[in-house]
Amino acid sequence: MYDDFKTLYETAMQCKKCRLAEQRKHVVFGEGNLKADIMFIGEGPGAREDELGRPFVGPAGQLLDKMLDEIGLKRADVYIANVVKCRPPNNRDPQPDERAACMDYLRAQVAFIKPKFIVCLGRIAAGVILGRDVKMMKEHGMCTEVKNFTIMPTFHPAAMLHNPDYVEGAKQDFQVLKKRLGELNIAR
Ligand code: URA
Repeated sequence: MYDDFKTLYETAMQCKKCRLAEQRKHVVFGEGNLKADIMFIGEGPGAREDELGRPFVGPAGQLLDKMLDEIGLKRADVYIANVVKCRPPNNRDPQPDERAACMDYLRAQVAFIKPKFIVCLGRIAAGVILGRDVKMMKEHGMCTEVKNFTIMPTFHPAAMLHNPDYVEGAKQDFQVLKKRLGELNIAR
């Protein structure tokens, strides 16, 4: 598929496979630790991310940073990416053909990084990664083992900003993550 991560990055940075390329300021490829055990996958860049070319740097990102901090993690410990790498206009949901066009990049990111734990931020990411409709209220914090990965959906930080109940739920989910990470470290 891609010979190395650099080729993947350079290909994605020039991508014009879907209509989202037309209005973007920057491709938001993803960033973080290429040897991370945990990968967070969001939906797609917002306005601030589009400006800066970095994932989760707006208000939702600040909340994500806080939640990471609460379980003793920093951004440098994890890898953060999105289902689509270009901002959907007015932050609308990425459409199925846009998700499909971008899937190759996400799949390759996961294949190179080989995280042990994938946290899906929100319904769209969870649906794409698990390949089915996910009912977040019911399924957040529930871990599914797929091949070598443990996949856990949780609430999207942008949704948490609007609904404090989701913050509580996500905090519980991050505790699940912390416990699993502890177990991973013990197992090494
Ligand atoms: N929301 C997302 O899903 N991803 C980002 O990078 C920022 C906000």
